This record gives sequence, structure tokens and C-alpha cells, in this order.
Amino acid sequence: MSKSTAEIRQAFLDFFQNKGHKIINSSSLVPAHDKTLLFTNAGMNQFKNVFLGQEKRTYTRATSVQRCVRAGGKHNDLEKVGYTSRHHTFFEMLGNFSFGDYFKKEAISFAWELLTSPQWFALPKDKLWVTVYATDDESFNIWEKEIGIPPIRIIRIGDNKGAPYLSDNFWQMSETGPCGPCSEIFFDHGEDVFGDPPGSLGEEGDRYIEIWNLVFMQFNRQSNGSMLPLPQPSVDTGMGLERITAVLQDVNSNYNIDIFKELIQSIAQVIGTTDLKNKSLHVIADHIRACAFLIADGILPSNENRSYVLRRLIRRAVRHGYDLGAPKNFFFKLIDPLIHAMGPVGHDLRHQKKRIESVLKIEEEQCSKTLEKGLIILETELNRLSGDTLQGDILFRLYDTFGFPIELIEDICRNRGLKVDKYGFLHEMKKQRQRSRNASNFHIDYSNQLFINHTSEFKGYKCLTLHAIIILIIVNGKIVDTICAGQNGIIILESTPFYPEGGGQIGDSGQLKSHNNACFTVNDTKKYNKAISHHGTMKNGIFNKGDDIIAQVCQEKRKRICLNHSATHLLQASLRLLLGKHVSQKGSFINDKILRFDFSHHQVINKEDLRKIEMIVNKQIRYNLPVEVNTMELEKAISRGAMALFSETYGKYVRVLEMGGFSVELCGGTHVEHTGNIGLFHIISESSAASGIRRIEATTGEEALFYIYQKNDILTELCQLVKTNQCQIKNKVQTLIKQKNTVEKNLNKIKFQQAVQKSKLLRNKAIKIKNIQLLVDHLEYLEPEMLRLIVDHLKNYFSSSTIIILSTVINNKISLIVSVSLDLTKNFKASDLIKTLAQQVNGKGGGSQQLAQAYGLNIQALPMALSSIKEWIPTQLK
Ligand code: ALA
Repeated sequence: MSKSTAEIRQAFLDFFQNKGHKIINSSSLVPAHDKTLLFTNAGMNQFKNVFLGQEKRTYTRATSVQRCVRAGGKHNDLEKVGYTSRHHTFFEMLGNFSFGDYFKKEAISFAWELLTSPQWFALPKDKLWVTVYATDDESFNIWEKEIGIPPIRIIRIGDNKGAPYLSDNFWQMSETGPCGPCSEIFFDHGEDVFGDPPGSLGEEGDRYIEIWNLVFMQFNRQSNGSMLPLPQPSVDTGMGLERITAVLQDVNSNYNIDIFKELIQSIAQVIGTTDLKNKSLHVIADHIRACAFLIADGILPSNENRSYVLRRLIRRAVRHGYDLGAPKNFFFKLIDPLIHAMGPVGHDLRHQKKRIESVLKIEEEQCSKTLEKGLIILETELNRLSGDTLQGDILFRLYDTFGFPIELIEDICRNRGLKVDKYGFLHEMKKQRQRSRNASNFHIDYSNQLFINHTSEFKGYKCLTLHAIIILIIVNGKIVDTICAGQNGIIILESTPFYPEGGGQIGDSGQLKSHNNACFTVNDTKKYNKAISHHGTMKNGIFNKGDDIIAQVCQEKRKRICLNHSATHLLQASLRLLLGKHVSQKGSFINDKILRFDFSHHQVINKEDLRKIEMIVNKQIRYNLPVEVNTMELEKAISRGAMALFSETYGKYVRVLEMGGFSVELCGGTHVEHTGNIGLFHIISESSAASGIRRIEATTGEEALFYIYQKNDILTELCQLVKTNQCQIKNKVQTLIKQKNTVEKNLNKIKFQQAVQKSKLLRNKAIKIKNIQLLVDHLEYLEPEMLRLIVDHLKNYFSSSTIIILSTVINNKISLIVSVSLDLTKNFKASDLIKTLAQQVNGKGGGSQQLAQAYGLNIQALPMALSSIKEWIPTQLK
């Protein structure tokens, strides 16, 4: 009996645990604080700073099973899914890591033992091939001499992608960051499968499949291409769980392993198809995994960056479903079977099942609507097509905006004897890729940043004033020894009471002062690796590196920030209490004026619920709960009910903040001592922050009081304006609105009567030229809208063959109107006539062929303009 995927996953971890590796949980698919990455794409991502030497852990050997998505950014397999038997957008990567501990020799022999030992995976040795980086003799020798692989099965691969270090055997995480030469292990699926060994022309076939990549991390790649050596050579390996499982279960497609077989069968059932070999089922099975885990890790479909990738995945899957004849709203129904198929790894999905399902359901509903809209657009484009080819930009618009399958458009066109411009389509695709690469902007130029290796101790939980030593000064991006009055700069202290921006809380402001009155105003405080940087301006005197100064945080501002931060915790707990456990933090911003909290929730929160939330928070304030801080192990904190954010990385020990028994959170921020200090909590607004994310803004303490006073003042002023009291104001305003409506109605009636009168008088002024009635006249002092009413009325009288031109002047401005009956628009267009007139009176105008309006400023020129047109029209009729 071959091993199940779950057993293989566990065996890998067991093997490396036996070899002294610490088992580390998978990190989120959203890389924590790493702007160089779109999604987590390898097991090593969460250890990036450890490889770079910027972070130390308590262990030097680790192993993990990391969920990865390769659907955008440097590593992107999206287009391959559905066409090969081994590519996925979502997959699990088995990995072992050494941080300056072992290197090539042990990495290679561990891998060999796990793969070939009868106790472990027991693969036949002669089925394994390896590749090494062309110049890596050391690895070559280990494979040949120590492992005993015949040299014919050890292939050297050079820079086969066109530039130094661009090679299948040189691995890098993204454009910048840790990288190094690698050695890959391949499995030969046997003669019956098409394909040649790695490094040869036919390597793309499915016979020799790469199963494990051993990367020997040695460099930190800079954005200018240069390679800085890492502080210590390290090891990062990655083996696709699905691929090794295919090998161990003796199937030659990943889509035939146990979990995919089960999943594909369930999908076919939901869709109602029996064609189990159809490649669309592969696409759907792959994409439902990616979509579910991306949503579980906090991504929601929309039009930007990561969210856009998720949207494309959902739409692509839905469209493949419809191709197979799936009923509407099928996609979310795949979550249940997915959770079952994923076994132990489905844990995070299980917790968030309802939410994931509802996101997918809403997105599919929207997407099927856009597909329908797309069809209408396609019809319109086909109807107006003059040649026999549908242009590439239209194809692309249908494909990109409406998720329209290109093959479907081709089909429709073929049925009508039309062709499609595929070349143009591909060109647009290329432009789009470039755009999304630019838009995602996931690059950081590390080499342009100063490398600050200092550590500052934060002492601001307990005190706000502290003696401290200046350890670094930066002015104009350069490290200097002195900063003088008038200069802006950054100062780093050995220890500081200033809180650096983080966890949603803004950085502190205040002053750094010396004993001889030199003074630096701190406007903001930030974290830079392990250093805390004070940003501001030197007001008086000078500071030198090494000076002993006094750091003073602005107390009043800090106090207000603390109120808002503590209230945010109470708010989150209240939301979970009232709305449900699906509420989790999606963003927060806390300053001395307001708090803003974004959280997952799919509906608008009504006024009553907002009140209830406000009441719950204020009740906890009145209970005056003690706020306690403890440091404990992450596991313990979670068992006490603290919520870890998926997008954060946490060390072994975490800071836990508890407010009575009401709220427990992991938090590094600064807080009040008792909830009573908050005084008052008042919600200012509730709105949508993004699809599926609501935002509440609120205020606390004195600020909340001021906010309420302000509203009260407005009410008092309103009462004075309409001369009533607060109890009566609503009735009074309603009465006023009613009165205003009545007055308006009456006024309109009068205007209408006036228009009727005027138009009656005007009728006689029309002159008849041939069969045409021409009426040109100037009316004294009328609102422009009256001109329109009069014309409407005249049109009832002169139903055809009439041109009406009227003007009026009010408030030194000319208004003109031209009306031409439909039968005359061939020769006279209202829009042309009005332009001629407008030009003459220094004005502007426009409209349709039958009715046009203009304004003008040159009142003196008006009589001339009117009479010239009055004379010109007859000349056109001769
Ligand atoms: N980080 C390496 C890879 O993803 C192991 O292939």
C-alpha cells in the first residue's frame, strides 16, 4: 500500500525532526512585511531575515510544510495549470533549512537518505538524476564520490536563461534578496512517458520530473544585480508535496494522487459531469485550493494586486465550470469537499468555512453577470464589424474585463465565418502583464537604503522621559557625526521612551534635549530593523553622536493615543460578541484624534447594532477593568483566546494584553491602566473599506466629548435659525420643506401660464418664407428655463417646418435658444445655428439637431447677431 499525502507530509517532518530540526508552522500566503513578494512562494520566505542575518532565532535547523501560491510575481505557473500534469497555482512545499548550521554535504545526504532509505521513501536509486550549477564542483563531487551517483546522471547546468546567475540551477526568491546555486533532484517516470533528461532539448516532457530543490544560500542580490555574500552560508530546500506524492503513489500526474482524485470526483458531482478526464476539472480543482486558502489568509477579490489575482482565479475556475455545464453558483459548494480532501491541512479552512463560501458565492454571482454583459458587448461588436476579423483589443477586453474564454469567442466567430486577431490579443496580454508588473510594485531597492544594524531598547511602556545616548545621526540619507540647528534628520538612541509606529498605532512625537539647551523636535518615530528612529528637526544648538540627552515624549498626545488604542481592543471584542466570531482585524489606524478599525464582515451594520456596540464598549469602560500585560509563549496566548493575525510573524514569546475577562489580544502597543481612563467611546461612522471589509471610525475621552459638543452646537444654531427648540425642530423642518415644495409648485404654475401667454404673443411674430415659419425674437428679462418652456409651448403650435430662435438677458448674461423642427434638420441644425450665434455674442453653446441652448456675454452684439441670422436663413432657402 502506498502512503497517503497526509502520511508523506508527516513522514517528511518526522524525518527532519529526527535530524534535529524544529518543526515550524506554515506562514500565511500573504508575506509578512515583505513588499518584494506578491504571495508566499517558497518555504524559505518566512526565514528571509534569518538568512540575511537581520534576525536571530533560537534554532539553527528548521523544517516546515509551507502553503505556497505561484500565480503572479517572479514565480508564476498560472497559465500552465490545466496544460501540464505537475503545475499548480497553490501547492504545499516540504522544506528543511539550515541557518549557518550545515551546508552542502549534509543537505545532500539528508535528501538522499529520505528519498532512498527503505525505512523512508525507498525510491529506486537508479531512477534519480541530479543537476548542479555549472561551476559547483563541490556539489558535483559530493553526489559522485559520497553518494555514488554515476557522473552520467549528474548534469551541470549553466546560466541557461541568458545572463549571469539566470539559471535553472541558481535560485532566488524575488528580484532582490537571498539567493544561491542549487542542486535539483529528478525522478525518471520511465520510458513509457515522453521527455528527455534535464538540460537537454526535450526536458519539458513529463518523463524526468524535478522533485526536490536544494538551494545553497550564499548571496543577497541587490537591485543593481550585484551579489553581497550572506553573513553565513545556509541551506533552503523545497520539495512539492504533490509531486513527491505522485512519485510515491506511482502515478504520473499530480492530479491523480489521492487528494486530487477525491476532490476531482466531488467537483464532477457538483458540476454534474461524468467526463473525469476533462482538463477543466484540473483547473477547477487547482483553483479552488488557491482561492480557499487565499481567502482564509485574508485576501478578498477586487481589482488590485493580490486581490486581482484572486479574482482572476475565481473567474477562470467559474468559466471552466460553465464550459462543463455547471449550474450557476456551483463554486462555493466545492469548499466542503475541499476541506475533506485536504485532511489535517483543512483546519484553517474549517474555521472560516462560512466566510470563504460567502465570498466565493458573491464573486461568482457578479462574475456570471459580467459574462452575460460580455455577450451583449460581443454581439454589438460583431454587428458593427466591417471586415472579417474581430480585433485584438476587443478580444482582450472581453477576456480581461468579462472573463470571457477566448476559445468561446473564437467559436462564436467561426460559426459566423469570422476570424479573430489572436496576434493582437497576445500583444494586449503582454501589455497587461507589463502593467500589472509595474502596478504591483513589489520591489524594494534595498541597496539604496542605509544598512542600520543598531538595536534600540524601547522603554516607553513605563516612562515618558529618559536619559539616552545618541548612537546614530542621519542627515540627507547619510550617516553623520553632527546635526545643527535648522537641519532635518533622523536620530537613533540606545534606548528610548518614544513608541515607533506599529500595530496600527502612530509613532510618538516630542523632544530630544541636551543639558545646554540644544533641542531636536521629534515629529514621528519609526522602526528600522531593530533600531528606533526619531524623525524631526534640530531647533536649537547641535547634537553630536555619543551625546547624553533627555528624550521627552509629548505626554498629552501619547495619553490620547493610549485611550484610542485600548478602545480599539474593546471595540474588536464587542464586534465579535455582537456580530460573530468571523470578525477579525483587517487593518487599524490609531492616532491622538481617532481610531479606525477595519474588519471582515459582509454586511452594513445598521444603526441599532452600532448603538449596541457603542453601549457594550462604554459598559466595559464603566466597569473600569484592569489592563494587564504579560509575556508568554504564543501557543499559551492563543489558548487564552488571543487572536494571531495571519499577516504577522510572531516570535516564540508574545506580549499579551488582557482587559478583565473581556478582551485578550497580542499587542505591542501602549495602553491605559484601567478601561475607565478611556472615559467615553463614541462611533463617528461606519462604512465599507473594501469588498467584505467594514470600517468603523470612533473617538474617545475628551475628543469624543468635543465631537458631541460640536454636533450639539450645530443643532442649537439650527434651532435659532428656524426659531424653534430641539424638541420641535424635526416638525419645524418638515413643515418648512412642505411649504417650500408648495411655493415651488405654485411658482412653476405661474411660470407656465406666463410661458403660454408669451408664446401666444410670439406666434404672430413668425414670418413665413416659402413653407417655413421663422420666428426670431428677443424677450425681456426672463429666466433661461422660461425660454425652454416657451419653446416647448410654441412647438405644440408650430408642429413642423419651423425654426425658432429666442434670446433674453438676465443679470448681464444672454441666454439663447434655437429649436428646429425635425423635417428641417437636413438643412438647418439647431446645434450649428446656436454655435454661429454664440460666437457672435462671445459665448458658448451646444445641443442636439432639434434643440440647442447657449449663453453669451456681449449684450451689445446681440441685436446684430439676431438680425444677421434672421437674414441669413432665407438666403439658404432660395
Ligand atoms: N526555495 C527553493 C524553491 O522554491 C527551495 O525551489
